Amino acid sequence: MDGANIGVGEKLRFAGAALRHDSALKHATGEARFLDDLPEPSGTLHAALVLSPVAHGRLRALNVPDNMPGVVRVIAPADIPGLNDIAPIAKGEPMLADGLVEHMGQPLAIVVARTRDEALRCAQAARPEIEELPPVLTVEEGLARQEWIIAPQVIADGDAEAALAAAAHRLTGEFFAGGQEHFYLEGHIALAEPGEDGEMRVHSSTQHPTEGQHIVARALGVPYHKVTVSCRRMGGAFGGKESNASWVAAAAAVAARLTGRPVKLRLSRKADMAASGKRHPFLYRYRVGFDASGKLLALDALLAADGGHSVDMSGGVVFRALTHALNCYAVPDVTLTACAVKTNHVSNTAFRGFGGPQGALLMEDVLARVAAHLGADLGEVRARNLAERTPYGQALEPALLRRCWAEARRDSAWEERRLAAAAFNAAHPTMRRGVGEFLCAFGISFGIPHLNQAGALVHVYTDGTVRLAHGGTEMGQGLFIKVAQVVAEVFSIPVEQVGITATTTAEVPNTSATAASTGSDLNGWAAHAAASAIRERMARVAAERFGCEPDEVVFEDGAVFPARPGANERLTFGELAKLCWTRAVSLSATGFYRVPDLSWDAKAGRGSPFFYFSYGAAVAEVALDTLTGEHRVLSAHLVQDCGRSLNPAIDLGQIEGAFVQGMGWLTSEELWWDGAGRLRTLGPSTYKIPGSRDVPPVFRTRLLEGAPNRAATIFRSKAVGEPPLLLATAVANALRDAAGCATLDFPATPERMLAASKNQQGSLAPGVTIGYTHH
Ligand code: MTE
Ligand code: HPA
Ligand code: MOS
Repeated sequence: MDGANIGVGEKLRFAGAALRHDSALKHATGEARFLDDLPEPSGTLHAALVLSPVAHGRLRALNVPDNMPGVVRVIAPADIPGLNDIAPIAKGEPMLADGLVEHMGQPLAIVVARTRDEALRCAQAARPEIEELPPVLTVEEGLARQEWIIAPQVIADGDAEAALAAAAHRLTGEFFAGGQEHFYLEGHIALAEPGEDGEMRVHSSTQHPTEGQHIVARALGVPYHKVTVSCRRMGGAFGGKESNASWVAAAAAVAARLTGRPVKLRLSRKADMAASGKRHPFLYRYRVGFDASGKLLALDALLAADGGHSVDMSGGVVFRALTHALNCYAVPDVTLTACAVKTNHVSNTAFRGFGGPQGALLMEDVLARVAAHLGADLGEVRARNLAERTPYGQALEPALLRRCWAEARRDSAWEERRLAAAAFNAAHPTMRRGVGEFLCAFGISFGIPHLNQAGALVHVYTDGTVRLAHGGTEMGQGLFIKVAQVVAEVFSIPVEQVGITATTTAEVPNTSATAASTGSDLNGWAAHAAASAIRERMARVAAERFGCEPDEVVFEDGAVFPARPGANERLTFGELAKLCWTRAVSLSATGFYRVPDLSWDAKAGRGSPFFYFSYGAAVAEVALDTLTGEHRVLSAHLVQDCGRSLNPAIDLGQIEGAFVQGMGWLTSEELWWDGAGRLRTLGPSTYKIPGSRDVPPVFRTRLLEGAPNRAATIFRSKAVGEPPLLLATAVANALRDAAGCATLDFPATPERMLAASKNQQGSLAPGVTIGYTHH
């Protein structure tokens, strides 16, 4: 398949259409079936987890009352038939704590009972005897102990030390960004059904059926071909079901194997929040050197993540933080160091952006500090430092970024808005308005090059309908409709003629997670390859019938005809399918795709690890009450580069959703651990995700037009799943502006904003006394 020019210039009929999500109506009416809605096989048992109440200690005994009604079995680590290891990449990450307890919420045992309530009651009655050890609870402590989850990795260019020494101006900085709970509406869940000869069939709410298959097989001690993992859809995932779904599936499968019955494991919200990984918090420390014009000359920065107690995917997250630490800016002499420290927190994991949002926060602090120090306009400092290439040598497209930026400023009436905010602030003693912006270059591809592959399986039936299977999973992001549109385009048939199916390891093997925003890039091309193979065969049959060459056969809007002028013979797509069958021509094909030309030299810290970058820009305005620290987003104007969008309606939804999720991370979602390392924000009452009223009342999103991807992606589209989450950083910058402070810790909760604006009280609100003393 030579994909190089497909989609350039050519008119598209089905791909590119703003179709609604294939399940949109079913989502709204409740007819869409999520895993817990599936009919339970007869004899299904229910599992619950016994979780550690302490952050660190030695498990001496686990006392489970033996008279609890309905309880069928209690499963301890020694009962696991295969390996007690759910590590997705590294080794030695236990499914059930075996002796050593390393975080609050760590699973200690599985209770299996007739009903879910009975299982939960027994799990709650279990009394672990744990000899407590002192927990490590902060990144600082982790750094001091040098206990690495991911040892420090460096990307460097030039000589930062010498350039710092030579710079006319120098600043040091330090700040912190907290983690984030995924808060998918559907929590973790799996249903495992034991079959014949050691087989296990698992329905799993997972972004990564193949990894689920591997970890279930590992826990059961069976080869991969005994295990099938399927997922029709998730009720949200956001990275939380990239690796963590696998241990939930494995726990259900172990219980099913040991009881010989189907077992469902659905975590309660509280257990889900305690036992599953979250976004990595990061601590940042830097030294920056610059000149009087605001041009950055030197930067030495450390980005230290809280990895939690085990590796999980922290390596990839650290890599993405490191490769996004300069975002779209350039520093000629730079040393960037990133690592993940070990703590007694739950092992942190993928979360939309995968370290990219954390990486990109660095330069926002740097630029704001530099501008404040020089009394310069922050926008000018941004403009002065835009990059042509990354510090690891990959070319960027600053012209695309500048377009996004100019359009976001224009859409938001940037200058007028700033003047209006200044006028407002001059007239109000306590309320502050702030305007902020953010520019983004987000690299698309899995950081591990070989993961950038996908497969598909397409059948055409003799009535001309199509069954589409591929390795991607649906989590609400609209992947299934996008890939169906690609297949509809190849055959030129209405998308309703393309049947969308659950993802299963039985149909498409050895897949990557649906992650890194690559779902439609990878599976779109794989499905295109499969459908094109069938179309070529069909064209040969049609050519024979029409007496023309196969490349003269036109597929158009459900019909097939010869291109020859005056020819009036036509077949419907279904008639041609039937004809192929009578000619004994196969109407089924697999397709495969791998991203070309990715490179990464880990030793040198050089290469082109991303197929391309997605660009975006945002402007946001906030109102801040300096008496309470409360704040609201008044407006947001976003421009996002989606290349030649496969589905602008879906992309718009992705951009809006990602932005609001990013707002939550930066402003209100605070994971709060007590001094003993117990997470105290285990539900929506204490953990505040954005609600409908937090959506900016003025919220304008535009896709950058006329910007087909220069990389040969499917129909020149671009990934959209994660990049716009970073655009919410504009809100953080608007808050800095409102509070008159360059440095902020995140989330910028009312508490933090109160402290930040109090620190500025003298200059911000003269004459107002609110009982605060300056330090
Ligand atoms: N959108 C919805 N509605 N639900 C989700 O769980 N996950 C995000 C994003 N958009 C998510 C979502 C994440 S983390 C990723 S990596 C991408 O979707 C994955 O899907 P894609 O590669 O098909 O864009
Ligand atoms: N994103 C998500 N998951 C991943 C990545 C990534 O960049 N790399 C490896 N796994
Ligand atoms: Mo998304 S964090 O890559 O699942």
